Amino acid sequence: MKPRTVIIGDNFAEELAHQLNLEAILVEERIFFDGEIQPRLLQEKKAEQIILILQKKADQGINDYLIEYLLLARKAKDLAKKVLGIMPYLPYTRQDAIFEEGEPLSALYLAELIEQNLALFLTFNMHEHRKRIRDLFTIPAYNVSLFQDLAKQFQEFDPQQAIVLGPDREAKTFVDDFCSNFPAEKIIFLKQRNAKTGQITFSYPKLNLKDKDVIIVDDLVSTGGTILAVAKIVKQFQARSISFAFVHPVLGDQSFEALKVVHPKKIITTNTISNSYFELDLIEPLARFLKQELKI
Ligand code: R5P
Repeated sequence: MKPRTVIIGDNFAEELAHQLNLEAILVEERIFFDGEIQPRLLQEKKAEQIILILQKKADQGINDYLIEYLLLARKAKDLAKKVLGIMPYLPYTRQDAIFEEGEPLSALYLAELIEQNLALFLTFNMHEHRKRIRDLFTIPAYNVSLFQDLAKQFQEFDPQQAIVLGPDREAKTFVDDFCSNFPAEKIIFLKQRNAKTGQITFSYPKLNLKDKDVIIVDDLVSTGGTILAVAKIVKQFQARSISFAFVHPVLGDQSFEALKVVHPKKIITTNTISNSYFELDLIEPLARFLKQELKI
């Protein structure tokens, strides 16, 4: 008899299958000398539905990750009527507008490709600046926030003595999610980027940070430029400590290490992209969401 649900993927598939008491089928990753990707399922099995999950590895090119995902989603479609796609980090979402004439609307075009073989899509804290997840996908699509779980890693802090700060207008939802589990004062900066030089500047309300523990939250950290610039402003206002909480370490360990320069009290991130420092394993909140919201 066909199993109802099978999970296909990498280490995440194995961990998720363990949490949900399901069967996992692992993928062998193979790359040819010319860069072509040929993943292989270690076992081929039909099922009622397949969950496909792959972690973006820090040393893997973002396009390789995408192609591998697309190939496996198409393969999964041959094995089950319904394929549920989980991409913990959804690439290309910063290209969610045509900034200069002639550019493709990459976030939308890639979502069109990704959803082709899927019945449902799930990601974490997609970079929702100019497009929401429902503007990109036509299938049911979920953008699950990890900020409430990130806040749990700050239990030793006194929320009365803390301030949760977002570096730009879009970070307001991250700050709100974080504070629903950590009732501290909230501050949102406004970020401006000079289109020619790339230089960023901030405007912000009157700040009273003296002797406060400031936690700067953001969806993704790449070079660290954005939250380090905010941290430097915070330092000038004599905060007692600075910490960082973010979901996607885009460059893996490098994103994390870039932040050490301001001697933060804590840096908390997740493993949506592989790195050796993460404190929040997304598998537990993911299993919770799949059980509670999708009844898997
Ligand atoms: C921007 O809107 C994002 O939320 C991040 O703040 C930004 O992309 C992070 O990049 P970086 O770490 O290179 O400043």
